Amino acid sequence: MNSSTENIKQLTAGLDPVDALAKLAGYFPGEIVFSTSFGWEDQAITHTIFANNLPIKVFTLETGRLFPETYYVWNRTMEMYGKPIHAYYPQHEALEQMVNAKGPNSFYESVDNRKECCGIRKVEPLNRALAGNKCWITGIRAEQSVNRQDMENVEWDEQHQLIKFHPIFSWTLDDVKAYIKKYNIPYNTLHDKGFPSIGCQPCTRAIREGEDFRAGRWWWEDQSKKECGLHDLIIDKQ
Ligand code: ADX
Ligand code: SF4
Repeated sequence: MNSSTENIKQLTAGLDPVDALAKLAGYFPGEIVFSTSFGWEDQAITHTIFANNLPIKVFTLETGRLFPETYYVWNRTMEMYGKPIHAYYPQHEALEQMVNAKGPNSFYESVDNRKECCGIRKVEPLNRALAGNKCWITGIRAEQSVNRQDMENVEWDEQHQLIKFHPIFSWTLDDVKAYIKKYNIPYNTLHDKGFPSIGCQPCTRAIREGEDFRAGRWWWEDQSKKECGLHDLIIDKQ
C-alpha cells in the first residue's frame, strides 16, 4: 500500500471533513488517531468522529498543567458522546526528576527549561500515542500562524513516519464557530474570554484585540522559539 502524501491528497481532494476522515479511516484501519487539546477546532473534529462513529482513536496529552475549563470540557465531551478519549501521561520518573531539581515552574527561566518541560509532558507521551499508527489527524488551521500558512492539509511527518492530516486546515475561525454553534458542540469557555489558542495553564494567557492568535502562548519568549515540539518537526512534502 502506497501511503505517500500525493496519494492521500488525491484520496481526500474536494471532500468535506466527514467524508475525508471516513475515507482515511477506511484506508488506515486501526492505524489512524486524532490528537485533541479540547480547543474549538479539536471539538469540531471530535464531533465529526464521534457523531459519525468513525473508527479513529481520539487521544489527549494530559500534561498535568491544563486549565480547569479544559478538564470540564473533556469530561462533558465524554458524557455527551459516550465515547472514550484516551489520556497519555508523562513518565513519572522523568517528571519527578525535573520538578525535584528545578521546581514546578522552571519553564519561565529559559527556553531550554521550557523545551525540557514540553519534552517530558508532551513530546514523549505523543511519541507513545503515535507509535504503530500510519495517520495522525490534528486541528491545525492555516490562519493560526505565519508558519502554519506555509503548511498543507496533508503532510509527511518524517520523525513519526506517518501522514499528518489537518481536516479543517482551510477553515476560518468563523467557520469553526459556526460549526460549533450548528451542532451545539461543547467548547472551552476560555475561548469567550480572549483565549483563541489554549495550552497549559501556566503557559497560556488571553490576548488583546489585534494581537496574533498565538500571542498568548509562551508569551515571554521570542516569537521564533514558540513551538512546543508537537508540530515543529522536519516536514518533507513528498
Ligand atoms: S501547540 O503545538 O501549539 O501546542 P496547538 O495548541 O496550536 O499546538 O494545537 C494544534 C493541534 O495540536 C491540536 O489541534 C491538536 O491536534 C494537537 N495538540 C496540541 N496540544 C495537544 C494536547 N495537549 N493533546 C493532544 N493534542 C494536542
Ligand atoms: Fe510545560 Fe508549559 Fe510546555 Fe505545558 S506548555 S508542557 S507547562 S512548558
